[in-house]
Amino acid sequence: MKSSIGIIGMGWVGASTAISILNRGISKDLLVNDVKKEIAEGEAMDLNHGSSFYPSAKVRAVEVEEMLDCEAIVITAGRGGSGDETRLDLLNDNIKIAKDISEKLKGYKGILVIVSNPVDVLTYYYQKFTGIPKHKVIGTGTFLDTARLRDMIGTKISIDPKSIHAYVVGEHGDSEVVLWSGADIGGEYLRKWDMWKPEYEQEISEKVQKAAYEIIKRKGATNHAIGLVTATLLKWIMRNERRIVTVSTVQKGPFELEDVAISLPSLITSDGVEQIVEIKMSEKEKERFMHSADVLRKAIDEVN
Ligand code: LAC
Repeated sequence: MKSSIGIIGMGWVGASTAISILNRGISKDLLVNDVKKEIAEGEAMDLNHGSSFYPSAKVRAVEVEEMLDCEAIVITAGRGGSGDETRLDLLNDNIKIAKDISEKLKGYKGILVIVSNPVDVLTYYYQKFTGIPKHKVIGTGTFLDTARLRDMIGTKISIDPKSIHAYVVGEHGDSEVVLWSGADIGGEYLRKWDMWKPEYEQEISEKVQKAAYEIIKRKGATNHAIGLVTATLLKWIMRNERRIVTVSTVQKGPFELEDVAISLPSLITSDGVEQIVEIKMSEKEKERFMHSADVLRKAIDEVN
């Protein structure tokens, strides 16, 4: 199986995605690109010098046009936020980059994974600008928020996050929604676990929502967890693992949503998202989810 992956944007997130891909043997042929060519070249050199320590692979710095045969292309290009900006505040700058890159991706037939923020709105516009089918343009969306949620629940009650089934849906941003009503561990609702206290929900919801701001305030950006999230999504795509995770795609039906990219649990295959789950929500959660969709649709409409 060819296993070539392209990464466009080799800043903090692109570099973390690249080393996560290599360490886990997800691609034998990793193509990297950056608007600053020397950055891509330097990252390729640096990553290749570690080739004794990961499954055999080669990293090459290329032009975007040389990626069109890749099974998947990751887009991390764009400005990252400062600690007091929302992800939506980045839209005006990053939509211009999206337009430019989309021009170079015309005719691409593989899977496009969008990481740049605001990831939901950029997922919508990358799909629109490139014309790639909706199920093949996948934003990392709330995959990272769901991972943060599971980590925080697991820390609170000393259970490994991989055994915790809880989801964040909606915008990867301030209007995201934690679905506490359906959270379960070992087939028992989290709310029924003796160790669980109702006050944990507000505390953890806020910590998940504010996580990126807290990290950016301290180290200037987030990169490791989103790099691992992106590499994991790519692994599931490349191996056709048919896993379900919350990612952002342009919706076509669940909750009567149309014409907006937003995160819901989605079945990941080598051909992209095969199915989107109309996950159970409480009335309040659904109200918040539909509000999140409105926030995103408003941002989409504001792009002139
Ligand atoms: C974060 C960035 C990826 O949440 O939006 O860390």
